[in-house]
Amino acid sequence: MYPKEMQKSIKKVEATREERLKKLPERMNEKERDEVLKKWHPDYKPEAKRKIKIGASKGSIVPHEVADLIEAYPLFEPDEIDLSQIDYDTDILIIGGGGAGTTAALFAYYSGIKPEDILIATKLRHGDANTMMAQGGIQAADKENDSPVIHYLDVIGGGHYANKPELVAQLVMNAPEIIKWHEELGVMYDKKEDGEMITIHGGGTSRKRMHSAKDYTGMEIMRVIRDEARNVGIKVLEFSPAIELIKDDEDKVAGAVLYNLETEQYYVVRAKTTILATGGFGRLHIQGFPTTNHYGATFDGAVIAYRAGAKLRDMDSVQYHPTGVAYPEQIVGLLVTEKVRGLGGQPVNADGEQFVHPLEPRDVEAASFIRECYGRNKGVVTPTGMRGVWLDSPLIEMIHGEGTIEKRLGAMFRMFKRFDIDMRYEPILVFPTLHYQNGGVEINENAQVLSKNGVIKGLFAAGEVEGGVHGKNRLMGNSLLDTQVFGKIAGINAGKYAKKAKKSKKLNLKHVESYINELEKAKIKEERKAPLLLPDYREKNVLSRAIDIL
Ligand code: FUM
Repeated sequence: MYPKEMQKSIKKVEATREERLKKLPERMNEKERDEVLKKWHPDYKPEAKRKIKIGASKGSIVPHEVADLIEAYPLFEPDEIDLSQIDYDTDILIIGGGGAGTTAALFAYYSGIKPEDILIATKLRHGDANTMMAQGGIQAADKENDSPVIHYLDVIGGGHYANKPELVAQLVMNAPEIIKWHEELGVMYDKKEDGEMITIHGGGTSRKRMHSAKDYTGMEIMRVIRDEARNVGIKVLEFSPAIELIKDDEDKVAGAVLYNLETEQYYVVRAKTTILATGGFGRLHIQGFPTTNHYGATFDGAVIAYRAGAKLRDMDSVQYHPTGVAYPEQIVGLLVTEKVRGLGGQPVNADGEQFVHPLEPRDVEAASFIRECYGRNKGVVTPTGMRGVWLDSPLIEMIHGEGTIEKRLGAMFRMFKRFDIDMRYEPILVFPTLHYQNGGVEINENAQVLSKNGVIKGLFAAGEVEGGVHGKNRLMGNSLLDTQVFGKIAGINAGKYAKKAKKSKKLNLKHVESYINELEKAKIKEERKAPLLLPDYREKNVLSRAIDIL
C-alpha cells in the first residue's frame, strides 16, 4: 500500500497511461547518451576512484572500495601455514559454487576427469551465488532472424567497444550450444504451445534473444546444474572460502588455502589446476549504493588472484542496474528484472511523463533515472527520503493480456504483493542499484588468467570474477551466459591441463610474501586486511538514502 503523497503521483501516471501506450520516446543518439552518462552516471565521478599503488595493474584507476581491498594485507602470516600438511589433494580445485564453478566442474568431468578428482570449495552453500538470483534471462542467438554475429555487435556496442573481441566471440558462438545443453539436462525455459522458445528483448539487444524461465531463470539453471553435479558425484566443500592461492617452485598455481567458516581452521588444498569462479563485488556497495547481490559477493577471488600476479581490467566501470526497488524500504535495492521493461513496463516520472526509452543500454538508462530524480527534480520521494521513478507495470497486462504478470513475472508479483502492492494495477518505484562487476581478472579465450608476462600457469577463471568479456557495460542476459560459456571453457581447458600436469612437489606462498613487501614499501596501513569474505556493515551506512549523488 502506498502512502498518500505517492498515491497522488500514481493518479498522474494513470492519467497518461493510454496515451503512452501508443508511443515510446525515441532512443538517444550517441551524443545524447554520452552527455547523460558523463553528467549522471556514478562511474564518471573521478573523486570516487583512485590509482592502485601496487601489483600487476599498478596505476590503473578503480573505485576506492576496490582499491581498499587490493591494497590490503593477507588474513594470515605466510609462515603460519604448514604447506607440507596437505588436507585435500585433487586434480582440479574450483573456487566458487555458483553457476560458473558448477558448470566448470561438469565440463571437466565430461572431458574425462573423474568426479572424485574435482573439488568445489565454496564460501557459503553450493548455489549461494548471484546466478541463483538472476531473474530476466540468458541471451543466445538461436533463432532464424538472429546470428552470433549480430549478438557480437550488440555486446561490443553495449560495452563501449572496450571488450576483448576474442572473448566476445567465445561468448556468442557458444551460446546456442549452452541452451541445448540446458534443455537436455531439463532446464524449463518458457515456451509457446508449439514448443518454440519464447524470446524477448533486453536493453541494447537488436534481436529478441533473451531466453527465460519466468523471472527466476538463474535459479532454474542453478537447480538443474547443481543436481547434475550431485548426480555425477562432484565433491563440494561448503563454508570454505579460499583466502590465498598457493604456488609451486615453477611459479605455477598449485592450489589454495581455505578457511573453514564454521571451525575457523585453515585447510591446504593441493591441486594440479585451479579455477576461480568466485563472482563479483556487489556487496562492496560502491559509492553507497544498495545492491541486488548475494551476501558473499565481496571480490575475494580477484584479491587473491591479484596477489598471485593477475592483471585486472575495466575495473573503473561498475554496473548499476536501473531498476532496483526504491519502495518499500524493506526491499530497497533488490532487483526488478529488466524483463518488466522487456514486456512493456515504462519508466515515468512523478508527473506521469515518459523521459527515456525503456530499453536503452543499462548505464544510459540508469544515468537517465538519476538525472530525472536529482537533475530535473521529477522523482518521487518516499517517506524515508529515497527518490525513485515509476515503472509502470500495469501496461504489461494491457499489452499482453490479463494474467501475464502472474505467469511471467510471478516472483516479482509475489515480492511486491507481500507489501500490499499489486503491480498488475499499480506502478512500482525504482532507482539504480549496484548490480555487476563489469571488469575483473583478465583472461584469454581459453579462460586462462593473465599476468603482465603472459599466462599464469595452472589458473583459470570464469564468470563475474573475470574481465574483458563485457567491456565497460554488460548487457542483460550476458552474465548468466558468461558463467555458462566460460565455466564450460575453463572446465574443458583445466581438464586438459590436469591430464598432462604432475603433482607439485613443494608448495609455497612466496608471492604473498612479495606482496606484503610491496604493501610495506607503499606504506599501506597494516590494519587493512583482505579478502573480506563477508560484508562488514558495522559503522557504515550503505542504504540508498545516503547516496551522495550531487
Ligand atoms: O534484469 C535482470 O533480470 C538482470 C539480468 C542480468 O543482469 O543479466
